[in-house]
Formats: sequence, C-alpha cells, structure tokens
Amino acid sequence: MLLCCRLSLVDMVYSQKENVFTNHEKGKTNMKIAITKNGPYIVDAGVPVKEVNSLANKDGAVLAYEEKMDLSDAKANTYLCRCGHSANKPFCDGHHAKIGFDGTEAGDRKSYDHGAELLQGKVYDALDKPGLCAAGRFCDVSTGFWNALHSMDEADKKYVEHVACTCPSGRLTLVDKHTGQKIEPELEKEIYLVNDVPAGHLGPIYAKGGIQVTGADGFAYEVRNRVTLCRCGESRNLPFCDASHLRCEHMEVE
Ligand code: FES
Repeated sequence: MLLCCRLSLVDMVYSQKENVFTNHEKGKTNMKIAITKNGPYIVDAGVPVKEVNSLANKDGAVLAYEEKMDLSDAKANTYLCRCGHSANKPFCDGHHAKIGFDGTEAGDRKSYDHGAELLQGKVYDALDKPGLCAAGRFCDVSTGFWNALHSMDEADKKYVEHVACTCPSGRLTLVDKHTGQKIEPELEKEIYLVNDVPAGHLGPIYAKGGIQVTGADGFAYEVRNRVTLCRCGESRNLPFCDASHLRCEHMEVE
C-alpha cells in the first residue's frame, strides 16, 4: 500500500532526445478519443493521426516504428474503425452496423497501479501488467527485457530504458530504485495506427502522450502516457488491445 502511494506521487519522464529525466505533469490534455456504442472511435480534430509500420529484426522482435502516412485532420473529427471490418480501414465505413458489432467495454477499468507487479532489477525496478500486453515485441530483442533488467551491463541498461520508452501498451514501466517513482518517456500527444507488417497483421491504435479516452457510457479511463486500443473488435479486454488481432483474418496485411 505504501509502495502504491509512493509510485503515484510524481512521475518522471525520460527524454530519448536529451537523455535526461524530468518531471512530468500527468494527465494534462485537451485532446480525446471518444468510444461510441458498438461503433467507431471518434478522435478529436487536431489530434495527429499517423500510420506506422513495425520494423523488426530477423527474430521478429520489434526495433522501431516507421512513419508511413500522416492521416491527421486539423479541422474535422476522425472516425476510426473499432470493429475491424471496415472496407476503408483505418476509417469507419458503417460496417459495424451490418455485422452487428458488439463493442461492449468489458475490460479492466482499474488503474494501472492496481494489479501491476513490481519487479526488482539491478539498475531499475519495473512494473509489469501482463493483461495490457499488445504484443508490441520491443521487449523481445536479444535475451529480452526481463533478463536485461537483472543485468548491470551498460548495454542492457540502455535496452531496458529503450523498452520502457517504446512499449506501446504501457505494460512495462521503469521505476527508480531509490525513490520508487515511475519513469515515463516524454511523448507528443498523437495516435499511431500500428501496422505490424512483420507479423502480417494490422495492430492496435497506439495513443501516445496522455490522451483521454472516454467510454461509450462516458466513463473516463485513466489517462496514461502509453495506451493501446483494440481495432480488430476481438479483444477480451475492450477497449484495450490484447493482441487478438494476430489471430484475425480480417486484420491481415494485404
Ligand atoms: S467501427 Fe465502423 S466499420 Fe468498424
């Protein structure tokens, strides 16, 4: 209990550009994603929306996202398909009504801290909430994040920092061993539509930088720096991605 309080006091941000940690004001946003009942996501006008391709190594571990197309609309809201069956992905074309899409948000509405496991590392500790995993696979490089967490090696330290900056779902979060504070990457508010080309499937919506997501019933989800939303319609943790897209024929990359 004490640990949870300490962790939620102040977040830190890690700037890849400047290689420094700074204080981060959590949850400050005037951009949002609204979920509609059994229908699309409505993204506020002005939120940058970009298609990105995953770039992987020969083992399938993801190294980076490459921006492919800027779909931003500064003046109009963007309607993104949530059911996975639009013929005009990533946009909604009304197919959700034809297929009788059930977009009930049955997923976990508790905060990240609720249920995240604290892992002890050598240089950093980390929080891990496996239920949020969207199969981003940044944590799969070499011997993987969990082994690197237990290493004092400088390269492993850098890799652990890299994973904590790139894990799109926010499943993994670094924690300062001495202060117990969470460390978050400094991210612009924008949306990545992830095309997991190496895995052959369209992936989740990656909402970056603390964009408010509201449920179809008006519920305000916890604002987090890294969030992945389902866009195949099959997640058992709606509205969040649970990697179900990887088994969906309708999400295969053409
Ligand atoms: S949510 Fe409208 S077509 Fe998928």
